[in-house]
Amino acid sequence: MNILILGSGGREHTLAWKIAQSSSCNKLFVAPGNAGTSLIGQNINIAATDFKSIKELAISEEISMVIVGPEDPLVKGIFDFFQSDEKLKHISVIGPSKQGAKLEGSKSFAKEFMQRNNIPTAKYRSFTKETILDGYDFLKSLNGPYVLKADGLAAGKGVLILNTLKEAKQELELMLLESKFGKASSTVVIEEFLDGIELSVFVITNGESYKILPSAKDYKRIGEGDTGLNTGGMGAVSPVPFIDRFFMEKIEQEIIKPSIEGLKKESINYQGFLFIGLIKVGSEPKVIEYNVRMGDPETEVVIPRIKSDLLNLLKGIDDGTFSEKDLNISEDAAATVMLVSKGYPEKYTKGVAITNFENCEGSIVFHAGTKLDGDITKTNGGRVMAITSFGKNIEQALARSYVNAVQINFKGKNYRKDIGFDL
Ligand code: AMP
Ligand code: GLY
Repeated sequence: MNILILGSGGREHTLAWKIAQSSSCNKLFVAPGNAGTSLIGQNINIAATDFKSIKELAISEEISMVIVGPEDPLVKGIFDFFQSDEKLKHISVIGPSKQGAKLEGSKSFAKEFMQRNNIPTAKYRSFTKETILDGYDFLKSLNGPYVLKADGLAAGKGVLILNTLKEAKQELELMLLESKFGKASSTVVIEEFLDGIELSVFVITNGESYKILPSAKDYKRIGEGDTGLNTGGMGAVSPVPFIDRFFMEKIEQEIIKPSIEGLKKESINYQGFLFIGLIKVGSEPKVIEYNVRMGDPETEVVIPRIKSDLLNLLKGIDDGTFSEKDLNISEDAAATVMLVSKGYPEKYTKGVAITNFENCEGSIVFHAGTKLDGDITKTNGGRVMAITSFGKNIEQALARSYVNAVQINFKGKNYRKDIGFDL
């Protein structure tokens, strides 16, 4: 099979690395890809949302499967675009329909879906410019901290957690009246604050049945001890040590099952990955968000722990054999540490040469924001490389990644030295 992976981050390098190991994979393309993916497959300089060029590529290269990395093309309807085109409809798209992608693309849609399907989540209401006064009243009825979420996609920045009622009211005004996040904040979800520890579960589904992938925990803040600005993710570990069999069973019965059944019941076409962000409040799991794709950097620890042939499993989604396929997971723990550019998540420079990453003993180096300039690999983003290692436990895996984090060199290299500190 010829496969096309859309995206350019550490997640896509990891998927490419795994898919390339399958005996069913003939040619592998990544659009647009990074320096790491160019060593495994062929990079094509097309944006993941440029459907017209993707169509031409899919036809000329006889692609049989498109694996969609980021949420943007899904929210913009790439699944439906393929389905409705005579020349493309035979191609398997790993990712949900536009309607399914609203689970990530609209927070109020996701909350309503959870409510309809009795899925535990924070109490909430949504507001627009017209109902801002009700919004103030709702804020008053809650105890701080106050959680405000822009309804639409806001590049991971649309969630604000505010300590005082005054700040919460001000921010609500900025979002609704001054378009703080553009159109994304023309509706705002105000939510009860959940106090607990975060974790993520990942599912692959064909819309009928599902398989649960390894759990993971990511570290979103730039600073040690979970301080400072939010980032795309500075590191991740898998499995999550505080999820025991009983807690996982609870997550499956109360959250995963009703989510998949809800999609089916509501005739929402959904195939591919579902990433469920959770908070453990006491002993209860509650959903904070759905993502309709894999996480980044969670992918860098979840996918390497899969021992089975991932492409074979994904093939089962369209050929009707998905539920019969095996999914074997390694007993080893995995950890990843993200090397980032100085200044990230705010201003940073690109185009800095990276050295000493080729022979990192005991780790797999997944490229994120990198690009080839002739023979030289240079930085091309805030998050540059994810260093993934295995171990008998998370401490061992982390220790290995940190040895290599020191070894890899580029000017302005920064990373968190405390991934896993809270476990
Ligand atoms: P999201 O973009 O929905 O993942 O939210 C970003 C972050 O905000 C999450 O990872 C949580 O740390 C936090 N968060 C979101 N919703 C809540 C909530 N209801 N209570 C507490 N923290 C939350
Ligand atoms: N690491 C969080 C995300 O991918 O959304």
